[in-house]
Amino acid sequence: MADYDKVFAESITNPDVFWAKAAADIDWYQTWEAVLDASNPPFYRWFTGASMNTCYNAVDRHVAGGRGDQVAIIYDSPVTGTVSKITYRHLQDNVARLAGVLRQLGVEKGDTVIIYMPMIPEAAYAMLACARIGAVHSVVFGGFAANELAVRINHAQPKILLTASGAIEGKKTLAYKPIVDEAAGIADHKFKHCVVLQRPFIHAELHPGRDLDWNEALVNAPAVDCVPVAATDPLYILYTSGTTGMPKGVLRDNGGHAVALLWTMKAIYNIDQGDVFWSASDVGWVVGHSYIVYGPLLKGATTVLYEGKPIGTPDAGAFWRVIAQHRVKSLFTAPTAFRAIKKEDPNGTFIAQYDLSRFEALYLAGERLDPDTYHWASKLLKVPVIDHWWQTETGWAIAANCRGIQELPIKPGSPTKAAPGYDVRIVDGAGKEVGPNTEGNIVVKLPLPPGTLVTLWRNDERFVQSYMSTFPGYYETSDGGYIDEDGYIFVMGRMDDVINVAGHRLSTGAMEEVIATHPDIAECAVIGTEDPIKGQVPVGLFVLKSGVERNVDEIKAELVKMVRDKIGAIACFRESSAVARLPKTRSGKILRGTMRSIAAGKQYRAPSTIDDPAILEEISETLKDMGIRRTS
Ligand code: COA
Ligand code: AMP
Repeated sequence: MADYDKVFAESITNPDVFWAKAAADIDWYQTWEAVLDASNPPFYRWFTGASMNTCYNAVDRHVAGGRGDQVAIIYDSPVTGTVSKITYRHLQDNVARLAGVLRQLGVEKGDTVIIYMPMIPEAAYAMLACARIGAVHSVVFGGFAANELAVRINHAQPKILLTASGAIEGKKTLAYKPIVDEAAGIADHKFKHCVVLQRPFIHAELHPGRDLDWNEALVNAPAVDCVPVAATDPLYILYTSGTTGMPKGVLRDNGGHAVALLWTMKAIYNIDQGDVFWSASDVGWVVGHSYIVYGPLLKGATTVLYEGKPIGTPDAGAFWRVIAQHRVKSLFTAPTAFRAIKKEDPNGTFIAQYDLSRFEALYLAGERLDPDTYHWASKLLKVPVIDHWWQTETGWAIAANCRGIQELPIKPGSPTKAAPGYDVRIVDGAGKEVGPNTEGNIVVKLPLPPGTLVTLWRNDERFVQSYMSTFPGYYETSDGGYIDEDGYIFVMGRMDDVINVAGHRLSTGAMEEVIATHPDIAECAVIGTEDPIKGQVPVGLFVLKSGVERNVDEIKAELVKMVRDKIGAIACFRESSAVARLPKTRSGKILRGTMRSIAAGKQYRAPSTIDDPAILEEISETLKDMGIRRTS
């Protein structure tokens, strides 16, 4: 049997032995009573009875092991003209003192802390400082508007909020603190203190009594040691888009997460201690949590924290400059970044200007890797281009080409085979497994491996209802696709109302909730449509209230502003159109899926429950007029 097959088979038939072996690479204060506790499905728990500390494993033990002078983080910020290198010893010192600040402000084990920060090392210090004292962090992506931040403040109920005065996004300077202040005003929950890192290019006003200056607070803070936490204690909450305006608070534990992520660094990414790994994402997304901060640091690798864009900071050669300058072994990013580079530099002239001889592999995820981008990147970079598929919920790849185990032949359009630990199946709507090459719902037979979501924060019911109810005994990924005769998985896209815009996961339902508050609008639907660079962009269709005779273009401009103000510019909501009516079932459910198919130029069949099939023709014409409907 080939290595991959053997490793995979063991992970499924004997998960206890498999993950216990992986767990030997983590330092435990106390080892487990059970590797897997399956006594309360679907609430599986890994390493029950064990205690450890994630920060200790990601920072202190490398210093204790004589690697204190190795670089832990390379901060590369073309937007501020900075490159700095932070050793593990320096990281330990910064994290221990920031943990001291949190303690002084009353943060105890189990308390929650919100981190709303740009791509600077202090964002990583903040996450690790929470882990150090057993506090639960929730990082909110800096591109979210005040309202989205307020929703998360209300749900996570943080004692403290950590932020910075602002960021430079491409060429724009953005102030963060006014957003925090606005969110604090909107939210019912009141955090006690806000610690603000003042950046040289933008000053934040501090509210006396509530706000503290980051650097001043650090001066008097004691260095605090790591506290033991149970393996099953929460490490972080990461909110991700569901189908409504209320995001889902994915909860990750400490022990299973550390074991799984450390194992993936070699098995999936072929990264060893001391190697330089670069994940060009943002700490606000799951990729940033797993592969800018925790994974590489648990491994004792060097992680690159890049505050810039693939293009425009300053040009389409930015990625190659970083790879060459920092001797990056592997890069992980989203296909959208490569499509943006390809558009600016189709012949890859920038690539030739840099020494990429140490670069070994490119990893892409976050959205479907279109074969065009795959071929372009592999031809010009001349390294393996590895597509891998995962979700915020899983925290690491469900399907990948595990180069550290055995590099399998690539089939463009497929993220290769199930990663060890994931028993992936395809089922039809009734939950019946289908054969090879038949499209259906992609599900994972329970239990999920360690490191995946434990539950939704303070919402076990929604956890069960969202992921575990439709197909009992299986985790519902909400992605559709098929598995071919060789076991290669093909992911065709979401089956729900979640869309991926430039690698950012967003809810069309949340946008509909915003649009529905417009006084002139009776009802609306937002659907994801294809975009050559961003993968998908949202498009709105709305019905005006009767009697409204305003200029529709004005209303459309108001909708764009409303979505920017309430959700954020990252929603990229720019296109909408008024329609006379929306297609619905007789019970009143809007047929979003059918409209998505029309927009994509796919064959569609009017559902038998449709109220009036003629409406589909009207929608088709509208989308055509908007230049959106593709012809198949
Ligand atoms: N904070 C505040 N605003 C942000 C932001 C942040 N962190 N990130 C993006 N925005 C804003 C942008 O400034 C832009 O605003 P504008 O409409 O006023 O111009 C808007 O949100 C849309 O941004 P984006 O979708 O990033 O479009 P872009 O045209 O600026 O850049 C790409 C396009 C493809 C270069 C860029 O999206 C990119 O680098 N994507 C990779 C994403 C990624 O790595 N995702 C992680 C998953 S692995
Ligand atoms: P997120 O939770 O932001 O990581 O987004 C998860 C979603 O992105 C998945 O459910 C998929 O729809 C999509 N996705 C992620 N990686 C891939 C991939 N390699 N191929 C296809 N779709 C992907």
